[in-house]
Order: sequence, then structure tokens, then C-alpha cells
Amino acid sequence: MDVRIIIISLCFLFVKSDFVIKKNCKDVDTSQCSIHNVAVDPCPRGPRLCVVKPDKAYSVNVDFTPHFPANNIKLALYSDDKKTNTYDTIIKTPEEVCGLVNCPLEAEERKNFDVHFTLGKMLPGKFPIKMVLWNEENKSQQCCFTFNVKIRK
Ligand SMILES: *[C@@H]1O[C@H](CO)[C@@H](O)[C@H](O)[C@H]1NC(C)=O
Repeated sequence: MDVRIIIISLCFLFVKSDFVIKKNCKDVDTSQCSIHNVAVDPCPRGPRLCVVKPDKAYSVNVDFTPHFPANNIKLALYSDDKKTNTYDTIIKTPEEVCGLVNCPLEAEERKNFDVHFTLGKMLPGKFPIKMVLWNEENKSQQCCFTFNVKIRK
């Protein structure tokens, strides 16, 4: 095989390595939004989970297609680090994300954006993080997914 092809494939592998396996949120109408890919940078030990440090900055790239239009969208990040299934730890308070996503959102138009976060003080263990993006004018229109992270002892 041509050495250039090998190098290109290796680069591709390297770029792909931060994809993380995502799950649909429970109790959410998943017909409202298709989440194609979620990549966390960096994501050591991916794609099943990312090994993270509480004080380090991470970015999540979300590749999605909303099935609703929206002028005003908000996004928030939560974690279930206490494993109570309530996602009651706020990582990112709800904020307007038109600067990131280019509003308005058109139905069936595929988009992607990056959002940055730092976990802050959390105990070691494996737990999920939830990201929600919603139409502020109709909160049942949302894109929601979870992915797992692990904080080492
Ligand atoms: C909110 O969105 C849902 C799902 O698309 C839709 O069924 C409902 O009619 C919408 N409600 C309003 C008030 O537009």
C-alpha cells in the first residue's frame, strides 16, 4: 500500500478517536431530533466512556438534525455524578446558543457546533453527562443525549 494512504488513514483514525457512544435521554420525545455523532475532545479510553479530570477543559462537538424550526434555542449540561438518575448537578446553566449554532434553526437542516465545559469538583467514579438543547418557545421540541465519563481516583 502507498505510504501516503497509510498516513492519511492513521490521521483519520486519530481524528475519529474522540467519538463517544451516546444514548437517548429517557422521557424525551426522540422523534424531535436526530443526533448523528457526538465527539468529546479529548476523550481518552473512548468511545465507551471518556476518562476525565475535574479541573480540565473539554469540548463536545454535536452533529445533529432538528426536526423542528426554532428562533430561540437554549442549551444546558447536567451530570448524574451522584447516580440518583436525576441529573441534578448543573455543569452549564441554560444559556442562549444562537452564537454557536446560527439561529434560526431550520427543521431538517443538519448542523454541528462545539460547546466547552469543565466539570468542577466531583467525586471519582463513572457517571453520565446529559446535554439538552431546546426550543425556548416550545420545550417539548428538544435534542437530548447522554454519554459516560469516568473520573479516576
Ligand atoms: C410543541 O411541539 C410539539 C412537538 O413538535 C407539537 O406537537 C406541539 O403542537 C407544539 N406546541 C405548540 C404550542 O406549538
